[in-house]
Parts: sequence; C-alpha cells; structure tokens
Amino acid sequence: MLITNIKTLFGVREEIKFLKGKEMARLPAIDNAFLHVEDGLIQGYGAMDQLDIREIPGQEMVDAKGQFVLPAWCDAHTHLVFAGSRESEFVDKIKGLSYVEIAQAGGGILNSAVLLRDTEEEDLFQQSWKRLEAVRALGTGAIEIKSGYGLSVEGELKMLRVVKRLKEKSPLSIRATFLGAHAYPLEFKNDHQAYLDLVCDEMLPRVAEEGLASYVDVFFEKGFFDVEATKRVMDTAKRYGLKGKLHANQLSNSGGVQFGVENGLLSVDHLEAIGELEIEALQGSKTIPTLLPSAAFFLRMNYPPARKMIDAGLGVALATDFNPGSSPSGNIPLLIALSCIQMKMTPEEAINAITINGAYAMELENEVGSITKGKKANLIFTKPMSSLAYLPYSFGENLIDKVMVEGEF
Ligand code: NIG
Ligand code: FE
Repeated sequence: MLITNIKTLFGVREEIKFLKGKEMARLPAIDNAFLHVEDGLIQGYGAMDQLDIREIPGQEMVDAKGQFVLPAWCDAHTHLVFAGSRESEFVDKIKGLSYVEIAQAGGGILNSAVLLRDTEEEDLFQQSWKRLEAVRALGTGAIEIKSGYGLSVEGELKMLRVVKRLKEKSPLSIRATFLGAHAYPLEFKNDHQAYLDLVCDEMLPRVAEEGLASYVDVFFEKGFFDVEATKRVMDTAKRYGLKGKLHANQLSNSGGVQFGVENGLLSVDHLEAIGELEIEALQGSKTIPTLLPSAAFFLRMNYPPARKMIDAGLGVALATDFNPGSSPSGNIPLLIALSCIQMKMTPEEAINAITINGAYAMELENEVGSITKGKKANLIFTKPMSSLAYLPYSFGENLIDKVMVEGEF
C-alpha cells in the first residue's frame, strides 16, 4: 500500500532511543509525505517530491490529502480486563468518600474482584474485547494489560487467559502483567502472610509455567502492600525470569520510586506523590517513570510533576491506567489533552511519551512507537486539522479518522 499526500508524517525516527529531558520536545516530521506499507510493516517513507512510483509499482494507493499521520499510541499501563463497572462508587466519591475509605469498606478493588469471580471467562472476554476495540478506534496500537481483580489462583489465571485470548484474536501488540498483589482479599484480612504465600508459591509458578505474563506488578501503597511484601513478590518474580513494574507513589509518598530504582524494575507508575528526592533517585536510573494523569483527574488528586521531571532531564512515559475504579477510560487523545493542560507538557512531549517512550515501558521499542523502517505499520490518520497542537487544544473532539494496525485499517 502506498499512502500519498500526507500533510505531515510525525514521529519519523531512524535511531531508536528512549527520549529524556529536552529530547522529549522534538517530534521529527516530514511535510507532504508518502509512506509505503507492505506485509504489515513500514517499508519506506519520504517527501512526495522524492517519490518515484516506478520503484514501488503495483501498490494499492491511499490518498491522505490534508491528514496527519502518526504512530499509533502505546499504552503501557492498563487494567482493561475487568467485569462490570463501579459507577456507584463514583457517586459515593462525589458525595465525599475517598478512594481509600471506599476500599476499606470492602469496595474498590474488592468490589471488582466479586464481580469478576461471578463472571464466566467467555463473558469476561467479550466485555474486554469490546473495550479493546473501542481503544483501538481511538488510536491505540499496543497495550499492556494487568490481572489483579482475580485475587485467587483461579481468578488470576482466568484474567490472564482472557488476555492471552485477546492477544490471539487482536492484531494489537499486547503485553500481560501479573498483579496478584493488588489488594488483600477479605478472607486474608488478618493473615496477609497466607495471601503472599498464595501469590508467591501458587499463582506465580502457574503464571510462569503457562507463560501467561511478561511482567509482575504490585500495588505498593499504605493499606495495600508494604515494602517487605513487595520485595518478596518481586524477588520471587525474578526467579521466574519476570521483570517488575510497580504501582508507586499514587496515594502517598511511601518509597515506591526508590524501591523500583534499587530493584531495577522496568517502570514505576503513577507518581502523583513524589518530590525532589524521587526525581533525584530516577536520574541516572533505567527505571521508567510512567505517569497516569487520567487517574489523578478522576480521583481529584494532584497531578504528577511532569514538567519538573522533564526539566530535570528525565524521560517520562504516559499511560491511561484504564480500570473501573480510578480511570474508567482508555481514551488517549483525552489523556494527551490532560497532560498538556494540567501537567504543562507540550503536545510534542505528550505524543513522544505515549508513543516511543510508552513502547519502551513495554519493551516493544523495536516493534512499535515510531515511523521507522521495519516497524509495524500501526498508524493513526487524523481528520484535517490546522496543526498538531489542535489535537489537545480541541479536547473532547474526536479527531481520529482512521487507525491502521499491522497494515490493515
Ligand atoms: O492503578 N492503584 C491501584 N490500581 C488501580 C486502581 C484499581 C481499582 O480501583 O480498581 C490504579 O489506579
Ligand atoms: Fe493501575
């Protein structure tokens, strides 16, 4: 397929690297461009005046006149597989309850765990498939999906098998993460050790044996999993060859960032509650800070200090945290708008954070996240717009015209 007359082709990169500090502000582009796609991969690109049709004959032609083309979004933190919804808690929060109060009353994650237990695998798959298709239509081409609402051997395996089926059916690049340590189930309220035994001695071996996850995550937070528990889960994961990601510094500054850096985790995610020390800890480390501003928006919390972090030379990734409790939306154009409006990221920084840097946070940087020869043809075609900044500026308007995944619309 030959795509011609692209108004601007964004995210063109020959050299692939994780973008940090000032590099995040640069989104390399070609005006009036063409793009050649074959076998689901990007084969070539350039300016229209360099296009020699005789060199690539017999192509299906697509005229992208007036449209921008971008690499599809890479969403490195979601809980897209869940059962039902929790809008009654949403109303409780409006009336004054906090996220932690709801959780302590047996709501929150435990509420989703009950819904999940009572949902057949097939039904769970159908609900999740619908969500996956919905985010694909908004431009998502690669996505990480966590377990964590099962909280039992059967429940966690059920969730991860659903992720496996999504992977088999969908052309999207999908990474699975095991999040058995998301909350202590009610029956283990007074025996946390026994639940950790279950996670480490029963769930993790099964997950590893069946090859159901690439990563392990823990909700490291006051009232959820403390440092000893987190260390035990991460050390066990390492023995099974699984890398770690962490829910860190979401509700309080509890040392999650330092834990992530010291233990060489792939990413530390959330970071609403961080200060200078955490920024310092991240400098010179390979652990990727992944910011989830949709959750801060939904829970009315402070946003992560993205501006400060980038100005301090850090690279950040953005992700939606799509989940039923703190971010019931996988809408990335809206996430980009929030990042620009509330965290003062420029449109270029936000797009880099949700494309190439997001790909790094899933170790998919050689497959997706930029317009690069040999990478998957996962592309977003926008509706006609005056400039790229119009995308977050006109927040709430759907400006995604078409989405291509592995070369197919
Ligand atoms: O990333 N923080 C923990 N996990 C999710 C919320 C899960 C839920 O409330 O269902 C999050 O915000
Ligand atoms: Fe999360």
